[in-house]
Amino acid sequence: MQHHHYDALIIGSGAAGLSMALQLAPHAKVAVLSKGKLTSGSTWLAQGGIAAVLDTTDSTQAHAEDTLTAGVNLSHKEAVEFTVNHGKESIDWLIQQGVPFTQEKDDYHLTKEGGHSHRRIIHSADATGKALQTTLIQQAESNPNIDLFEHHIAVDLITRRKLGLAQNRCVGAYILNALTGHVEVFQAAHVILATGGASKAYLYTSNSDGATGDGIAMAWRAGCRVGNMEFNQFHPTCLYHPQAKSFLITEAVRGEGGKLLLPDGTQFMHQFDERAELAPRDIVARAIDHEMKRLGCDSLFLDISHKPKEFIQAHFPTIYKRCLKLGIDMTQEPIPVVPAAHYTCGGVLTDEKGRTDIPGLYAIGETSFTGLHGANRLASNSLLECLVYAKSASDDVAISLKKPLEEALIPPWDETQVTDSDEDVIISHNWDEIRRFMWDYVGIVRTTKRLQRAKHRVDLLQQEISEYYSHYKISNDLLELRNLAVVAELIINSAMQRQESRGLHYTLDFPNLGPEPLDTILTPENFIWN
Ligand code: FAD
Ligand code: SIN
Repeated sequence: MQHHHYDALIIGSGAAGLSMALQLAPHAKVAVLSKGKLTSGSTWLAQGGIAAVLDTTDSTQAHAEDTLTAGVNLSHKEAVEFTVNHGKESIDWLIQQGVPFTQEKDDYHLTKEGGHSHRRIIHSADATGKALQTTLIQQAESNPNIDLFEHHIAVDLITRRKLGLAQNRCVGAYILNALTGHVEVFQAAHVILATGGASKAYLYTSNSDGATGDGIAMAWRAGCRVGNMEFNQFHPTCLYHPQAKSFLITEAVRGEGGKLLLPDGTQFMHQFDERAELAPRDIVARAIDHEMKRLGCDSLFLDISHKPKEFIQAHFPTIYKRCLKLGIDMTQEPIPVVPAAHYTCGGVLTDEKGRTDIPGLYAIGETSFTGLHGANRLASNSLLECLVYAKSASDDVAISLKKPLEEALIPPWDETQVTDSDEDVIISHNWDEIRRFMWDYVGIVRTTKRLQRAKHRVDLLQQEISEYYSHYKISNDLLELRNLAVVAELIINSAMQRQESRGLHYTLDFPNLGPEPLDTILTPENFIWN
């Protein structure tokens, strides 16, 4: 069995994981894992851009206020200020790395998105994530202190407590090497979860296949608290087309003047919010959902065809080409759109340095709960959060590396009690079931009864999955299903606790804001105060 030793093990190769690896490489020997290709995950798909104060007419105070407003007063003020204050230096770092942001005249072009009072989204046309990740991968590949492992799937974290040792600390993780089918040990005094979000818990999502909340589930099982899991963001505008499952139409289309239309061509957003198309995402997604249900139609429409063709082709080349391939010419006609699960606002509880409840374990990026997003994330604040916390966590790890630590003896993975599965259909069936009841009962509009139904189902599934897990050899699908069920349960339990409607959590049984903004913090049974 392979046993690897590193100073830091980073699980995830998105914006958070790669930035952390590059920041840490001057101080440490680092391993970066990806469960698929290095480009798997949401970063590759990011379109709109990164929010930061880069224009002299803008201010960090305005960015902070917009973030707090979108988050419906639940964002932590310190986390908001910390993030927006580090915006410009994060972008400068990306430019130094070589990310090719779109320029206009002699400066970087800044676009606008919902909830922002200024143009402050720096971008690479409509494929910002691809440009960013391509650059960071190139930098990481050429860095001698970084080893990259594709198709390596984290199964569970290893803690001193699990090993029966005193002074709890995370000391590594068991990793399924999907290329060999064997589980390996990656031992490291610092383990960083950069595993992205959990929107795959829903039937319709803008995310790619791996967004199963693995980091959140692993941290929860290891004894970490999680926060605000009820706030799953639904993006208002995903392309509605049978051959284009999960393709996003960036909010920047609305930022540049795109209008939302009913099937008969009338605009409707101003009836829901004075900011109309540029209201925060929770409001726009709920309005679309409401109109679709009222009219009984499969989609609504997004129209930017009043803008010059050259402008649309220059600003939205990826979307233009993708739509055209499907027979939709967005320069001439509206695009059919529906809301879809997009972003996990909650996650593993961390401090400003990305530290979790377990010493040696960090969480950064979408998998973390830093307090930045509150009840609804402001558009394009996510990539910014990845960059800012990757830097603060890497600074903390660099300091911690100077202190000597006793190495734990980690046993190999034990496969003696399990056999090959002969019933893989159970996995795919349970996957579908979770995603369907989450969509139906824990979606954009919730009720207590729907949440109770979902809770009943997830409890039954948890039992079945746990029995299956203890008898059969693990596979990526089984690991993801196991994690998805944990995350679904965390979302449902959090939603049941919140007896008010705030931001992304809207329930017909408690339609108003509660008296004061409170986080929903869930504590696992095996939690210990350090
Ligand atoms: P990800 O980029 O999702 O990466 C997760 C990594 O973890 C992957 O490498 C994956 O393989 C790995 N991983 C997961 N589980 C395991 C495991 N068990 N073992 C090993 N590896 C594992 N945000 C913005 O700010 N601006 C935008 O314009 C924007 N556009 C978006 C468009 C789309 C379509 C989507 C889906 C999201 C968008 N977002 C945007 C959100 C943003 O892209 C993500 O929140 C952000 O990229 C998350 O980065 P991350 O590094 O935390 O995780
Ligand atoms: C988009 O481009 O609309 C996505 C931006 C985001 O999720 O922040």
